[in-house]
Formats: sequence, C-alpha cells, structure tokens
Amino acid sequence: MVKLLMLILQRQTLMQQPEFRNDIFSTPVWIGGSEDADTRASIEALSYAFKKRQEGEVTGLVSEEWDKQTKTKDENAKAKNGITSFFSENLVFNDDWAEAGQFLLNMAGTMLSDTHDVRGMKLGNMWTTIYPQGGFVPQHIHSCFSVSGVYYVKAEPDCGEIIFKDPSWVAKTMNIWSGNGPFPHGSTSFVVDPKPGMMILFPSWLPHSTKSNKSGEDRIIISFNLDFGEVNKNQLLHSGITETEAEE
Ligand SMILES: [Fe+2]
Repeated sequence: MVKLLMLILQRQTLMQQPEFRNDIFSTPVWIGGSEDADTRASIEALSYAFKKRQEGEVTGLVSEEWDKQTKTKDENAKAKNGITSFFSENLVFNDDWAEAGQFLLNMAGTMLSDTHDVRGMKLGNMWTTIYPQGGFVPQHIHSCFSVSGVYYVKAEPDCGEIIFKDPSWVAKTMNIWSGNGPFPHGSTSFVVDPKPGMMILFPSWLPHSTKSNKSGEDRIIISFNLDFGEVNKNQLLHSGITETEAEE
C-alpha cells in the first residue's frame, strides 16, 4: 500500500515537473470583460431593433439551420432557431452601429495590445445573433481572417457555453498510451461559460460551437472579425457587395 502511494506521488511529481517534456504549439484565446452596462443595454436595443426590422424579411437562421445557411421569412422558424444579421448586412457599415463598433474595437484593442501592435486595426465585419431558448451554433470557423471575436450582450446563467476545439484533436486522441487515456493527455476542448459584457478573442481558424441556450431568455452576441490591413484584403466578401458589383 505504501509502495503504491509512493508510486502515485512519484508519478504526480513527474507530471508536475517534467524534466524532459516541453509542451509546444499553444493557442492564444483572450478573455476580457466590460462593466459598461449602459453600452451593453444600447447594443441590446440595437440587436432587438434589427430583429424588429427583419419581421417579414428574409433573415439567416442559426441552430440546426446554420450549416444549411437557411434564410427565410418564416417567423416560426426564426423564433425556433434564432436569427443572425450575418446574411443581411455588415453592421460595420450601418451608422446606427458606429458607436457600438467603436466600443468593441477599443475593447479588443485593449485586450490585444500587450502583445500585439493594434495600430490600424479595424473591424472587418460585425453581426448580431439572437439565440432563443434552445438556440445554439454548430461548430464552425471564421474563414479568411486572422483574429475573430465575440461579445456577450445578453448572457443569463445557463445560456450555453462556447466550446473551442483543438483542430488536431484526431491526432491527439487516436492513440491510447499505457492504458491511461488519450495521448498525450487532457482535453482537446476549451469551454467558456459566458457572462454579460464578456469578450473572447480567438484565432479565426479555431473551430468553435456553443451549447444550447437553457437560460429561459435570449442569448445575444455580437460577433466580429478583425481587419489588420494587408492580410485581410477580402473584406468586400462580407460588406454586402456582390461579386459582380465588386468587380466593376
Ligand atoms: Fe463564430
């Protein structure tokens, strides 16, 4: 028994202070928060104004319809799945959203500025999504950008965690090592429980999804992609300009 305890202790010491092992290729995820309830309330009002404006209009859906990129006028489908402005307009170019956009850009700049030069950083695009009870977003990435973000406008308890998934999860979990579990160790998911005013920034290539909203109230988010100038020449793709118009 004592020998077993010694072995366990020895093993724990080894796990905590590896002499030879280096864990490499980490992934940055920035998590911050704002206490500015007034701005949050004004962004909530803007989001609901979008919802109101879309009544009777074709609007993009989330939840099970997200992967199909369903856009519909069906108000029942909107109420069940939740709606997003992603397919309607780029809010960066909507004057009503200018102050909100500046607030989000400033917040993202503060969070990034200790390790990155954020001069010239802009919002490439921005959209709001309102998830009703049961609403969620399936796993996806933000193509063609470097850093993306989400700001939680309305996030009551149990509104659904966001789950980031290590894209090399297959390689990291396909082998079982010494009967101890997946090699090398630990989880290939990172879960964050949203709070009102929270902002999360992440590499745009990092797959993420959310659990369904069980808060009994809407979950409202603003999503955005940051534009660092020379690496994001594709911003017209999300500006509402069609391919034909953009070529003219
Ligand atoms: Fe996303």
